Amino acid sequence: MSGQKTAWVTGASSGLGLHTALALRDDGWRVIAGARSFEDGEAGGMTRLKLDVTDEESVARFCEKAAGIAKPDALVQCAGMLVLGSCEETSVEEFRRVIDTNYLGMVRMNRAVLPLMRERGGGKIVLFSSINGLLGIPFQGAYTASKHAIEGYAECLQLEVKPFGIQVMLVEPGDHRSGSDKYRPHAAAMTEKSPYAAAYKSATDRIHRDETGGSDPDRLGRIVARTLDRKRIPLRKRVASADQHLAVWVHRFLGARVNRWVLRCYYIRKKPVKPE
Ligand SMILES: NC(=O)c1ccc[n+]([C@@H]2O[C@H](COP(=O)([O-])OP(=O)(O)OC[C@H]3O[C@@H](n4cnc5c(N)ncnc54)[C@H](OP(=O)(O)O)[C@@H]3O)[C@@H](O)[C@H]2O)c1
Repeated sequence: MSGQKTAWVTGASSGLGLHTALALRDDGWRVIAGARSFEDGEAGGMTRLKLDVTDEESVARFCEKAAGIAKPDALVQCAGMLVLGSCEETSVEEFRRVIDTNYLGMVRMNRAVLPLMRERGGGKIVLFSSINGLLGIPFQGAYTASKHAIEGYAECLQLEVKPFGIQVMLVEPGDHRSGSDKYRPHAAAMTEKSPYAAAYKSATDRIHRDETGGSDPDRLGRIVARTLDRKRIPLRKRVASADQHLAVWVHRFLGARVNRWVLRCYYIRKKPVKPE
């Protein structure tokens, strides 16, 4: 199809990345989808290419193969994972895995794709953040830190690339019933011996309930696709339920004590067990 636009989508094998890729395909985009579990080939009306965003060589290979097919009008970055655990007990290696995938993965992809977009005189970069990019949720320290990093990075990026006709959009989803538990491991130290065990159980039960009862991932995919079609895209696109919008509002406009109270009441119902 002549004049067809191309989107490269990372993390497109599952969850919101898959739903966004499908929505873009349905809207007439050529989609080149990347994930570690893909074998190179055509499937479901998209081109699939193997991609590990934590591996510099894999990123270079993906970009070379994808550029041989069609250079990107849009790069949509959804690859992500989280490790659940207390800040104290999550190991540095576990923190590193989350930051390396969620944040540095985006940095690697952008470093490879920005020269292509500059050459073409423009493009759109979409970075999947989260409500956790705006406020902290207990026992999601590594994930929350990675999403806050993305938020700050995107603000810098948009200022730098605007003169080249490149626009940046952060997608800030609330809970959606799409994520797979395999991308949400518990930190190794989170056993019943943990001093945080009771609070951890209360918070992770709540997190699990919110995600399994979360918003419709198809709808999010369609919103992202529709927004990407606009000439001008916003820096932030929050796609969340009314109570999650309210939580962001409370966080922004009310003080730290109120926030702590609200979030502790919501997530942590159990007091820590005092050591004997
Ligand atoms: N679901 C939600 O409620 C929610 C809420 C807020 C934000 N988000 C954000 O939305 C994005 C998608 O999350 P999700 O929960 O919907 O999906 P998910 O089911 O957790 O899927 C994660 C995706 O990332 C890919 N991935 C993980 N590590 C990768 C790596 N090193 N290189 C390349 N791809 C990698 C996985 O594919 P392979 O294993 O095949 O590589 C998979 O396609 C994430 O950025 C997440 O933080 C989700």
